[in-house]
Amino acid sequence: MSKTYNIAVIPGDGTGPEVVRESRKVLEAAASKFAFKINFEEFDFGGERYLKTGEVLPDSAPEQLKKFDSILLGAIGHPDVKPGILEKGILLKLRFELDQYINLRPIKLYPGVSSPLKDKGPEHIDYVVIRENTGDVYTGSGGVTMKGTAGEVAIQNMVYTRMQVDRCLKYAFDYTRKRNKRNTLALCGKTNVLTYVFDLWERAFNEIGTAGFPDIKREYFHVDATCMWMIKNPEWFDVIVTSNMFGDIITDLGAITQGGMGIAAGGNINPEGVSMFEPIGGSAPKYTGRNVINPLAAISSGSMMLEHLGEESAAQAIENAIMDVTANKIKDLGAGRMGFSTSETGDLVAERV
Ligand code: IPM
Ligand code: MG
Repeated sequence: MSKTYNIAVIPGDGTGPEVVRESRKVLEAAASKFAFKINFEEFDFGGERYLKTGEVLPDSAPEQLKKFDSILLGAIGHPDVKPGILEKGILLKLRFELDQYINLRPIKLYPGVSSPLKDKGPEHIDYVVIRENTGDVYTGSGGVTMKGTAGEVAIQNMVYTRMQVDRCLKYAFDYTRKRNKRNTLALCGKTNVLTYVFDLWERAFNEIGTAGFPDIKREYFHVDATCMWMIKNPEWFDVIVTSNMFGDIITDLGAITQGGMGIAAGGNINPEGVSMFEPIGGSAPKYTGRNVINPLAAISSGSMMLEHLGEESAAQAIENAIMDVTANKIKDLGAGRMGFSTSETGDLVAERV
């Protein structure tokens, strides 16, 4: 009997629906090739719904979404909605409520894609950033007093518990072992300034590594130096584990080295619950509805989803198809410059799967 996966789809705002459509097309192709079934159910969360109803996310949404095997997200962010409302109310809310404590972001340069890094090819850029996804300045701890006066005080706290750090590190060590490339895990922090938070991270890193992962080599880099090495010697990296805020920043840097937002995908993972996969690029309002946005990142997040669900061969087939397309068809990944429309790009990948 063939397996069936129930997938919740949140196309979201801007170009989200366009790229999700292509991701679904490719997932359907993979499902029929590898003999499993996918039921998609769409949810209309996003800016349009908020503008119409005044509700950002129904209270029932997290519980509803927990019933699915996985979630596929397009993009969140609307030009007519003040920044922060949708991002915090939908994207961050779901990450928190569903306790998706890992944000997995592969940085991989596909063949044929030109990187802004001089003299670096696919053999140099192939690592994974594991970003902690529930703590840090993202928890909303802090506040403001004397707002609007010259004495205004604004505080946003960097918060980490030992439990949050431990579970993230444990995942990172396991992931590095399972990846089995260079068996090296780098902690990216700032132990020279953030002497409470990153002291906690560093102690936990060494304790967990020594006790359970003697086969995994440990390295440490400050976040500023990490940025430098990601540009100068990306081939040094195998897996990087880091905090939420640093992970947010360094993964945009990583994304541009792999060819930009058109190709960068990520997974918000709850290893014990429901995970959510998304292209990390955003809603790109200026390209909305023009059929010019690059769907490869969304397609790639679909592949990550299948891998997470245990459909490794299907996931690999999609990744191979993407690589074939970048190597032989699409040279420029920028919206409108691909030489193929959004839907044609989806077709190219689907045919190859
Ligand atoms: C990301 C984004 C989000 C984040 C924003 C949209 C809230 O930048 O997924 O990297 O900061 O996590
Ligand atoms: Mg970001």
